[in-house]
Amino acid sequence: MNKLKKLSGNPHLIKKDGKLLIGGIEASEILKNARTPLMIFFAKRVKNNINSFCRAFQSVFDNFQCFYSFKANYLPDICRIVLSEGVGAELIGLPELKLALKLQFPSEKIIVGGPYLPQELIEKCILENIKEIVVYDLNDVNLIDFIAKKHKKVQEICLRLNSQKFGSKLGIDLDEFELTLLKKIKNEYKNVKITTVLSHYSTQMNNFEQFKQNLINVLEKIKILVRAGVRIENINLGGGFPEAAIMPELQLIEIAKKIKLILTNFDIKFENIYFEPGRYFVGDAGIFIAKVIRVYKDRWIFLNIGNHICPKFAKASLRFYNITRINDPHKYKASIAGIVPTDQDVLAKNYFFTKKLEEGDFVMITNVGAYCLTFSNRFPYLLPEISLIEDGNITQIFDPLVHHDFSLN
Ligand SMILES: Cc1ncc(COP(=O)(O)O)c(C=O)c1O
Repeated sequence: MNKLKKLSGNPHLIKKDGKLLIGGIEASEILKNARTPLMIFFAKRVKNNINSFCRAFQSVFDNFQCFYSFKANYLPDICRIVLSEGVGAELIGLPELKLALKLQFPSEKIIVGGPYLPQELIEKCILENIKEIVVYDLNDVNLIDFIAKKHKKVQEICLRLNSQKFGSKLGIDLDEFELTLLKKIKNEYKNVKITTVLSHYSTQMNNFEQFKQNLINVLEKIKILVRAGVRIENINLGGGFPEAAIMPELQLIEIAKKIKLILTNFDIKFENIYFEPGRYFVGDAGIFIAKVIRVYKDRWIFLNIGNHICPKFAKASLRFYNITRINDPHKYKASIAGIVPTDQDVLAKNYFFTKKLEEGDFVMITNVGAYCLTFSNRFPYLLPEISLIEDGNITQIFDPLVHHDFSLN
């Protein structure tokens, strides 16, 4: 009988006739010569996620633009796939900017900015005709104007608004002091033009209420800006979507429609609406395969991976499968620890897993494509090998013994 079962809501993880297929390749084949921990990405999943996202928002907005947030996963091979789907790039600093330009993202599809805008970064943005520089602090505009003037250019600016969530310290509140500064910018700085506002609210936003809070905040701030004589052309609502396996396209369409309704009722004129998702594109496009290195008391197991490469900070929706015993029911609680020598290195507690637990069992962890590598740290273990499955072939894209590190420079 041809029994197919999708694991973790991921069409690239299929159980067929009792065998696990990873990106169409039998898991046993992948594991035959593999060193663990191993990370695998599915090119097709990245492409499909991008297409779902863009289709959903384009079906509701005719003025939608999309920029991939590189910080979610800045591996050059992943960013190359993103580029091939025609979306733009949202970047935080110079190493990412150099990568995006090397990959030939068009400059009119690149947005750069963050809480730290060193002079070298601003200079590069202006010289390369980057679409917008995102400013988290109005005091940064002075230097942008100065450098733009030097190069006889007018740089478009996006204001990162404070999302007003839990007293966030990121972004501009538009208090009286800032409004005074804004008037000065408007009247005196001739080489910058404020065109866009951005508000990114949170991560893993699963209910519309969070999207609504974000939008209301932006609209309130636009009202203040209009009163101060600043006309906004574009609204950027940031990212914050969960993994695509968790939020299907239909749900995205619902969110898009509700956003549109609020915008229509608010009766505000703007030209474009932007989003800058990271996790949605890549979160469920990556998995880890690790090994059980120890079975401890009370159904605790230790894996040869830990929070140094699968960090809590990534806020990923982790799912665990014992792929050595993939046909055994996963309904017996186990707790999973990592190899960082601290009791804090817990990957999951009381997680439904197989009854039998043995040293050497292979464990698959899903939804690790976003932020795990970004937030990984230099604990003195070997980094994982990374492979990419693309067009039915598996190719190693990072070998820690050869490449040593995947940091950007
Ligand atoms: C300004 C901004 N835009 C976009 C993103 C991407 O968010 P996500 O990966 O949750 O979609 C982030 C993430 O922190 C962000 O700070």
